[in-house]
Amino acid sequence: MDSIQIHGGVALQGKVRIQGSKNAALPILAGTLLTKETSYIRNCPKIADVYGMINLLKSLGCHVSWEESGIRVNAKDICRGEMQGEAITGMRSSLCLLGALLGRCGEVVMEYPGGCVIGERPIDLHLSALSKMGVVFTEEQGRIRANARKLCGAHIKLSVASVGATENILLAAVMAQGETLIEGAAREPEVVALCYFLRCCGAVIEGIGSSRLHITGNRLLHGADFMVPSDRIVAGTYLFAAVATGGNVLLEAAPYTQMEAVLNVAEKMGAQCIAASEGLYVQAGERPMAVSQLRTAPYPGFPTDLQSMALAVLTTSEGQCRIEETIFENRFRVVEPLREMGADIQVCDAHRVIVKGVEKLHGAAMEAKELRGGAALVLAGLMAEGESIITDCKYIYRGYENICKDLRELGARIVSV
Ligand code: EPZ
Repeated sequence: MDSIQIHGGVALQGKVRIQGSKNAALPILAGTLLTKETSYIRNCPKIADVYGMINLLKSLGCHVSWEESGIRVNAKDICRGEMQGEAITGMRSSLCLLGALLGRCGEVVMEYPGGCVIGERPIDLHLSALSKMGVVFTEEQGRIRANARKLCGAHIKLSVASVGATENILLAAVMAQGETLIEGAAREPEVVALCYFLRCCGAVIEGIGSSRLHITGNRLLHGADFMVPSDRIVAGTYLFAAVATGGNVLLEAAPYTQMEAVLNVAEKMGAQCIAASEGLYVQAGERPMAVSQLRTAPYPGFPTDLQSMALAVLTTSEGQCRIEETIFENRFRVVEPLREMGADIQVCDAHRVIVKGVEKLHGAAMEAKELRGGAALVLAGLMAEGESIITDCKYIYRGYENICKDLRELGARIVSV
């Protein structure tokens, strides 16, 4: 069942419920390590990355059970901070266990984290910030050993608003002696959700949602019952699926207050987006309009995780668009398969492409190479004439609970095979 088969050309109709956020759930699950009490994390998506994080927590000695509406975690018996294997090398978010374990155990040994091949993805900002907090890093046999005899608060200026580095500093700082000030912090809604979870556990954090976070450390944290917010990237994916097919849909529980930049682009493409208590209504035009420029940026800018989907939509738009990817240097891997479907895309360099809209795409056999690029190929398949087959869909299932079922609920002719 690692392939997806699509017959395109259907305008999506109806409603679908948006799953919990992958990029909020993962650091929050890591945060459950910071207390000996039980936490209950609701609305976690049933995706490969969450199963990977659960296995990692269990390998550390946590008691983890998935119950009806959430995951119950108790970390009172964790014994050591040593992690290795596919769950680390295959998943970037394993890195946020570094800050949490340093906060809890003061020592961690782990392999270098992997994740989607969308760029170099160095971890220098994580290492330099944690070193300022008193952590000593050594490398042995390709593994990182981190040791903090005494974790102390620090004044940290991030040169890049890194989501992962901000989360790691937060997870360490709530347990550190003294105050930590992070300047240039990431403002993504997933960072905000982590801050609220830690606050529910008794942490003291000010400036939540801003680029200046102030943490008062050294508090004994307790367990919490916390609801993971809906996934703005999944909501954005289905929004662009509606725009791509001239659809009319309701995205139930879509976190539209976190999606301003995305809604602006969808509206420029000719869609009407109406926010309501039940979610987001999207009424798309028959054919997407081109937007002249699209530039990704840290939140609240246009998310890099939706760049491939917007690119796919723009392949059949009326006009041309210049897309600039400012976050990652290898995030145009969908260009080749889209060209095979008949798209007209010119690659200027690692960060820029120009898309000239064509009337129609035709179906093709393609391979998913990473999570969001894979989802973009699904959108292209929905738009294309005829049949498309996407193989290696394990990447897509890392972030989407059930993309085929969700799109079928909206009338798409799509199955996993
Ligand atoms: C998070 O990755 C998300 N992953 C990514 O989503 C998302 O694309 C990214 O943030 C940007 O929004 C999770 O939350 C699990 P960064 P992260 O650190 O934390 C550079 C998806 O599809 N950098 O904000 O790894 C880095 O190379 C995934 O769900 C350094 O130079 O991203 C990049 O250019 C893909 N040194 C930029 O910062 C560092 O130490 C932003 O990366 C760290 C990062």
